[in-house]
Amino acid sequence: MKTIYLIYPKKIGTIAPEIYGHFTEHIGGVIYDGLWVGKDSSIPNINGFRKELIEKLKAINPPVIRWPGGCFAEGYDWRDGIGENRPTRPYWWTPDDGRYESNEVGTHEFMELCEMTGAKAYFAANLTSVSPLHIRNWMDYCLSPKGTTTLAKEREKNGHPEPFEIPYWGVGNENWGDGGNMRPETYADEFRRYVSVMNNIDSKVDFFACGSNSFEYEWTHGVVPILASSLKYVNGYSMHYYCCFEGSCGDAVDFTVDEWDKLMVRANRMEEIIERNWNIICSHAMQEYCKLVVDEWGCWHAKRAKLGANKHLLEQQSTMRDAMVTAITLNIFNRHCDKVKMANVAQLVNNLHALFLAEGEHCITTPTYHVFDMYKGHQGAEAIDVCVSENDDVATSLSVSASCKDGKTLVTIGNLSATEDAVISLNGTGMELPSKGVMYLLAHEDIHAHNTFENPDTVVPTMKEFNPRKSIVIPKAGIVTLQF
Ligand code: AHR
Repeated sequence: MKTIYLIYPKKIGTIAPEIYGHFTEHIGGVIYDGLWVGKDSSIPNINGFRKELIEKLKAINPPVIRWPGGCFAEGYDWRDGIGENRPTRPYWWTPDDGRYESNEVGTHEFMELCEMTGAKAYFAANLTSVSPLHIRNWMDYCLSPKGTTTLAKEREKNGHPEPFEIPYWGVGNENWGDGGNMRPETYADEFRRYVSVMNNIDSKVDFFACGSNSFEYEWTHGVVPILASSLKYVNGYSMHYYCCFEGSCGDAVDFTVDEWDKLMVRANRMEEIIERNWNIICSHAMQEYCKLVVDEWGCWHAKRAKLGANKHLLEQQSTMRDAMVTAITLNIFNRHCDKVKMANVAQLVNNLHALFLAEGEHCITTPTYHVFDMYKGHQGAEAIDVCVSENDDVATSLSVSASCKDGKTLVTIGNLSATEDAVISLNGTGMELPSKGVMYLLAHEDIHAHNTFENPDTVVPTMKEFNPRKSIVIPKAGIVTLQF
C-alpha cells in the first residue's frame, strides 16, 4: 500500500487557470472541419463554429486559447483574415497536405470563439516573415479604443467597434526551427526589436519569448541573458515538449506494455524541463516578471493509427495512454504552479494530443478531454505539497497533485502501472480528513481503449462516493480525482 501525504501547511501557490489552456492552429483539420464548419453548413453551428464542440469545450472551462499557430503563424498576414473577399493562399502546411488557406477564420471569428467559450485569447505573432510595423498594426487594429485610429475604425466597419481583449502575445514560434531557423542570439535581438515596437501600442499585455524545445537548454542559455539585459518587456518564456516525438514509444493505439512504460518516463521528464529552464531564468534574476509558458505539449506519436478517412495532417487517435500523459503533465504543472503561468495542449481537435475528434456530423471527445474535465477544479486553487511513499520506480508509480479551494480539497492521481492495481491511503498533515468524499475514475481494462465515431463512450469517467479515511484501490492505468 502506498500513502499519499497531503501537506496542507506547505502551500506552493495559486494554480493559474491558464495552465489548462488550449491551442488551435491552422493546420490539417483543426480549424476547418474540426472547429469551423461554416455558417451555411447543415452541421449544427454557432456562427460557423461546430455547436457540439463549442458546448463541450465550454463545459471544461477553457481559460485561454492560443492562435493562429504554431508554424502557421510565421507565414501569416493578419490582413488576409479580415473584411470581405478574403484571399486564398498557400499556408504553412501546404507542402505537407496540399491544402490551401481560405482565411474564412480570421481575427474576428477567432475572437468570437473566445467569447463563446469564455476563453482568453493568446495571439502568436509572426516574427519571421513580416515587419514589426505589421504586427504593431495588428495590435492597433485589435486593441485601439473605439473611434480613435484608422485601424480601430476599420475594425468597427468590420463589426466590432469595441477593442478586442487579447492579453497575451507570443513573439515568434519555434524560431530555433521553422520560425526563421535562427541562432539564439539572433532571436533574442529580434525579440527585443519587435517587442519594443509592440509594447508601444499596449504596454499592459504580456509578451512571451520563444523558448526551448524539449531538452535543448543551450537555446535557453543563449536567449535568456540577452532578454535579461533588455527593457524587461518579456513576461513569459514559452517552451515546447512533445514527449514521444523521438524515441520508441510505438504506435498511437497498438503499443506494448514496454512502450507504455517508456512513454510514462518521457512524460515525467516535463518536470526536469520546467526545473532546468526555471533555474536559468532565476540565475538571471528574471523570476519576478518572466514565468514559464509551455505553449505546446502532448504526445506526437511516431506511428499514428488511421482514424476515419485519416485525411488530416498530424491527426492521431488518443487512448488511455494519452490520458495518462495528460494526467502526469497536469499534475506536474500543478506542482510547479509557482513557475508555470500558462500551458497549451497541442492541439484541440483532429491533431496530435487532441481533446476532440470531428469529421462531418461526428464529434467525439477523447480520454484526454475527460482528464481536463476531471482536473478543472484545480483552476485558480491553492496547490499544496504532496509526497508519496515507495514511489521511485516510474513504471509502478503514482502521479499526484493536490489543491484547496473554498475549503475543499481536490487530489488527482494517475496509477502509471499498466499491469498492477494500486492500493492507496491518504494522510493529511495539518488537517483532519473528512469521512465522505466524491471520487471520479477514468479507467478501462484495456490500456489501448479509446473512443471512436462508432463507439464514442468506450472511455468515460464514472463517479461514486468514498471515504477519505479508508484505503482506495486505483485500477491499473487508472486516473482518479478525489474531492472532499
Ligand atoms: O503542433 C504542430 C506543430 O508542432 C506546430 O505548428 C509547431 O509549432 C510544432 O513544431
